[in-house]
Amino acid sequence: MNRLMLFLLLLTASQTTFTKEGEKEITLQLPPASLEKWYRPANERDVWLHTMFRLRREMQAVTEYAALEEVQLLKKWLKKLQEDYLSIGKMVPEWRDELETELLEKMTRAAADGKLADLQALQRKLAKTSCQSCHAEYKLSAALRYRAPDFSKIMVESEETKEEEKYGRVMSRLTLLVNRIKIASDDKRPETAVTALDELEQRLADLGGSCSSCHKQEATRESILGKASQDALGKVREGLAAGDTKKVGRFVGEFAVGVCADCHALHRLQSSLRGLLTGD
Ligand code: HEC
Ligand code: HEC
Ligand code: HEC
Repeated sequence: MNRLMLFLLLLTASQTTFTKEGEKEITLQLPPASLEKWYRPANERDVWLHTMFRLRREMQAVTEYAALEEVQLLKKWLKKLQEDYLSIGKMVPEWRDELETELLEKMTRAAADGKLADLQALQRKLAKTSCQSCHAEYKLSAALRYRAPDFSKIMVESEETKEEEKYGRVMSRLTLLVNRIKIASDDKRPETAVTALDELEQRLADLGGSCSSCHKQEATRESILGKASQDALGKVREGLAAGDTKKVGRFVGEFAVGVCADCHALHRLQSSLRGLLTGD
């Protein structure tokens, strides 16, 4: 299997290269630091991303009105496009020199002269040389760096001891408890398994208290740590009481998929990649 390696420091461009051993290396270029100001929490909103959504809409409007030969509407959207495009360089000065401002000026002139075919050709060039080329280098790294969830500072408070623990530690404890239940059940040591199950339930309740650091709605916590999770663990408890190893195994599995794996699918990979980019 290829080892996937992310080289994040000395890089000049996103690219794939092959090392002597034929292993594939992927490099990712980090965006300039000033981009951070245009994302939460430094900003109230993800201003950068919303500018990008507007740019896409403006590009579409220009394409459509050029095709319809609706020159007045075309000019209106071209003006908005120009403003938002220039705002890239105001927000991130490091990118100012990369901008194809001349192309936009030529587009404006073509619109004024009614040369719509020229305008369309210029717009395609803008999309390719500016939008797409910047995206190829920075889109993924910016999204991960500024929008992937950051668990490095989230603390989980224990209801019992009022102590706070980092996510990584809480996770190690959860894994240990889940496996302890399975081992003790297989070896017919139900008391040990039940004690571990009690603690697991308590730890999950503690974990649930951390969701609100990022999610306002209670339903979000509920969708992973709510009834389905409690039902599965209830069946595990029944299995332990009855000495039914098979039942315990089945519902520990159901729980691990529906709680641990589902939550990981939503958060863990992104959080790990973000950590690689930030060194957290
Ligand atoms: C100098 C760099 C740069 C230029 C030029 C640029 N973008 Fe972007 N764009 C980005 C970055 C960085 C992101 C990633 C933002 C994120 O995901 O948080 C992005 C993301 C986007 C997105 C969101 C994509 C998605 O994931 O849905 C759209 C839409 C977009 N850009 C449109 C445009 C258009 C249209 C243009 C050209 C008119 C353009 N951008 C020019 C840097 C640039
Ligand atoms: C560090 C921030 C953070 C924490 C803490 C966090 N999440 Fe998330 N979660 C996110 C982000 C970011 C997304 C991506 C979608 C979004 O923007 O809502 C997401 C998505 C989700 C989704 C899918 C979309 C939705 O809103 O239904 C669920 C379900 C979810 N999280 C559950 C949880 C649960 C349960 C916990 C606590 C055990 C939790 N999250 C803790 C950041 C976080
Ligand atoms: C918020 C939803 C969420 C739930 C529910 C969850 N995890 Fe995690 N888990 C994470 C996140 C996020 C990370 C990455 C933490 C980090 O990067 O610091 C993680 C990391 C881990 C790790 C790696 C720890 C490390 O130090 O690298 C293990 C092991 C783990 N989880 C086990 C479990 C088990 C077992 C369960 C179920 C009993 C579970 N997790 C439930 C979100 C969750």
